[in-house]
Amino acid sequence: MVVKKPRIVIVGAGMAGLTAANKLHSVTASKDLFEVCVVEGGSRIGGRINTSEFCGDQIELGATWIHGIGGSPLHKIAQQTHSLLSDKPWECMDGNSSDQTTITIAEGGFHLDPSIVNPITRLFKNLMDHAQGKNQKNNITERDTTARGDEFLHSFCKKVSTRVGSAGLSIGLDAYWDSSKDQEEFKGCGIWNRKLLEEAIFAMHENTQRTYTSAGDLLNLDYNAESEYQMFPGEEITIAKGYLSIIEYLASALPPGVIQLGRKVTRIQWQPERHEQNGFCSSRPVKLHFCDGSVMHADHVIITVSLGVLKAAIGDDQGMFQPPLPNYKAEAISRLGFGVVNKLFMQLSPTTHHCKDGHHRPKRFPYLQLVFHSPHSEMRHKKIPWWMRRSPTLCPIYKNSSVLLCWFAGEEAKALESLKDEEIINGASDTFSSFRCSGYSYNEVKFSKVLKTKWATDPLFLGSYSYVAVGSSGEDFDTMAEPLPRESTSSPPLQILFAGEATHRTHYSTTHGAYFSGLREANRLLQHYHCLGIYNN
Ligand SMILES: Cc1cc2nc3c(=O)[nH]c(=O)nc-3n(C[C@H](O)[C@H](O)[C@H](O)COP(=O)(O)OP(=O)(O)OC[C@H]3O[C@@H](n4cnc5c(N)ncnc54)[C@H](O)[C@@H]3O)c2cc1C
Ligand SMILES: *[C@@H]1O[C@H](CO)[C@@H](O)[C@H](O)[C@H]1NC(C)=O
Ligand SMILES: *[C@@H]1O[C@H](CO)[C@@H](O)[C@H](O)[C@H]1NC(C)=O
Ligand SMILES: *[C@@H]1O[C@H](CO)[C@@H](O)[C@H](O)[C@H]1NC(C)=O
Repeated sequence: MVVKKPRIVIVGAGMAGLTAANKLHSVTASKDLFEVCVVEGGSRIGGRINTSEFCGDQIELGATWIHGIGGSPLHKIAQQTHSLLSDKPWECMDGNSSDQTTITIAEGGFHLDPSIVNPITRLFKNLMDHAQGKNQKNNITERDTTARGDEFLHSFCKKVSTRVGSAGLSIGLDAYWDSSKDQEEFKGCGIWNRKLLEEAIFAMHENTQRTYTSAGDLLNLDYNAESEYQMFPGEEITIAKGYLSIIEYLASALPPGVIQLGRKVTRIQWQPERHEQNGFCSSRPVKLHFCDGSVMHADHVIITVSLGVLKAAIGDDQGMFQPPLPNYKAEAISRLGFGVVNKLFMQLSPTTHHCKDGHHRPKRFPYLQLVFHSPHSEMRHKKIPWWMRRSPTLCPIYKNSSVLLCWFAGEEAKALESLKDEEIINGASDTFSSFRCSGYSYNEVKFSKVLKTKWATDPLFLGSYSYVAVGSSGEDFDTMAEPLPRESTSSPPLQILFAGEATHRTHYSTTHGAYFSGLREANRLLQHYHCLGIYNN
């Protein structure tokens, strides 16, 4: 009898899946040890990396930044492949670099002086650092006595400090709020007073944090566990030739036919225990079913689908796994958070861009920070739709671009997905006409075209990225990463392996987290077959 090569099927051609395939191939190809294939449900590779085009500009619909270049394996690949340089402009968000000032503007069109914005910015940063255990020694109450808190801030901090278990955080926050100035009208800001402004600036930072973490509600973040999250040092940059160039590099090493597109897996049958008569017509223990009715047998399956897809897969009795995943695994999947973050690209109509000085030179659109009244405030402009109210910034994707970008999180991000382009154009135009002010004629801002991402409704993703929700912990990421069946059983080992962003305890939510997880699972199999020592080093 001919001994069959072990067959490894990788589900998903995103960063994790292609990294695993690349690693398995590069270590063992010359020895022809395995049969490896990547089955991808969509019609393209990249997953949550999707470099695309809008109005002639290159844009990123998913992953955008290399979060810290120091030690990042993806930065290294980008350097090696010369992906960090391009003749054409790209989404580099250089509008807030030093030669271009950030403008903070409050609803109604009031430019806010850095002297009011910066103390709140510092307060927020300190609060977040403290909550995440980054500067435990730092007594935030003494950091900046000119900034003031308010009821909202106070209760926010209290909740954070309850989570953190640190009394120090809430003590003395009243010191931020100099009550003698409560009723002070803020100069030139009409319906704003200082307290309202500070609250609203704080909320703007909260909203930025929502897009960073994908937690729709920051109080649903477990700050303690989030403190395990690791950043690479150094700059955060975007990739000139597009994030997809890294994906293409990883895929280019694979022989034709290894990656199979349009192969959506609907069911995975595995064998937690050995049955003498298991009904499988193959010696390979795992059987995959595809949406077209076809099946495939495998010795090992590396699952890289998103946490959102996994949550749906365990959601009902007819779930993806048969038998269902063990409880400890399913519980980790349901405890961890998976939020929605979407990007909205808007093209400024050509008539928007003219200076008042008679020159017909286009004027650069600034890097705007938007300060909204609270959604419940009586002072709010009623024309601004609720789903626009928590978008903290609006800026061109590079200095000169006529394409502006806005980030959305949580409920607002979900709502955006179901809106018609026309509703978005109208809502955005109404919003920016409420921000009209001197310096730039915001009342002239008109949008001709929009493009939004739809990560929550796309059945291949069902959300954007993971976070540590209250009730979960870093351990849940480790549980996510555990292969099945557990080693103690007598059935064939390593039938189902788990990779993907949401299986990495310290780099979750990122492309490099996905990358590391793909390497980890490839190495697990290589080690199992005793390949690592022989071929790797
Ligand atoms: C809007 C947005 C912005 C982001 N910004 C950044 C950023 O700036 N920096 C950063 O580091 N990260 C960012 N991320 C996160 C980053 O994109 C992800 O962490 C990473 O790409 C995840 O890779 P993955 O391989 O784990 O999963 P995925 O890329 O989701 O790959 C899984 C693959 O599985 C496929 N699949 C799903 N179900 C099935 C099925 N049933 N059968 C077959 N195939 C299936 C999917 O189509 C997909 O291709 C962002 C994400 C989003 C959505
Ligand atoms: C990826 O981008 C293409 C356009 O370039 C688009 O058609 C497709 O819907 C995008 N996929 C996702 C999941 O956003
Ligand atoms: C923090 O500041 C408060 C108020 O100024 C003070 O009472 C407290 O002792 C300080 N705590 C530490 C740890 O320095
Ligand atoms: C930006 O616009 C200016 C003025 O129109 C132009 O001279 C310059 O070449 C543009 N730069 C880019 C990168 O498009």
